Amino acid sequence: MRIPAQRFAHFVRDFTQLVDCCEDDEAQLLARGRDLLAEIVCRDDWLPEAYAQPNPQHYQQYLLHADPADRFSVVSFVWGPGQKTPIHNHTVWALIGMLSGGERAECFGVGDPGQPMRSLGVDHLTPGTVETISPRTGDVHRVSNAYDDRVSISIHVYGGNIGRIARHVFDEETSMRKRFISGYSNEAEIAA
Ligand code: FE2
Repeated sequence: MRIPAQRFAHFVRDFTQLVDCCEDDEAQLLARGRDLLAEIVCRDDWLPEAYAQPNPQHYQQYLLHADPADRFSVVSFVWGPGQKTPIHNHTVWALIGMLSGGERAECFGVGDPGQPMRSLGVDHLTPGTVETISPRTGDVHRVSNAYDDRVSISIHVYGGNIGRIARHVFDEETSMRKRFISGYSNEAEIAA
């Protein structure tokens, strides 16, 4: 699968070089990766229409690039009006860059069994901003479209092939966790 956009191709080239040099240094990787992602989300004219399509039922996760060695993946998240994720973790580092619209991200601490999750605060992402997530500092959150009346899009980079990683969703009232694998919205294209 290829996205014939020079802007994105340069991003993948630069990010691959970054992972080549800094795979074992997460702090440096996130700091430099944040700058690379900020460069491509400062303009919203490069994402092909096919990867910007909302679905009326569910938010969409389109795989844009998978590193051949599964060291990182790049995904476009497309939110229909009012859509949101369950509370979930990642198990790998992540960078979230806002392309258009807005996102509300609420971080959580996992409670004792049977106890509710603890809200750790809310971040609001506006176009051009980039947020980092690390399992080392807490990677449990719930993300929603900041808008009830329009589509929002963000570009995510993960420290693995995120659609293939077994991770968890959490129940807000009981902190109970359930295993899930997210997959991608464009599975048919990826398999072709
Ligand atoms: Fe997430």
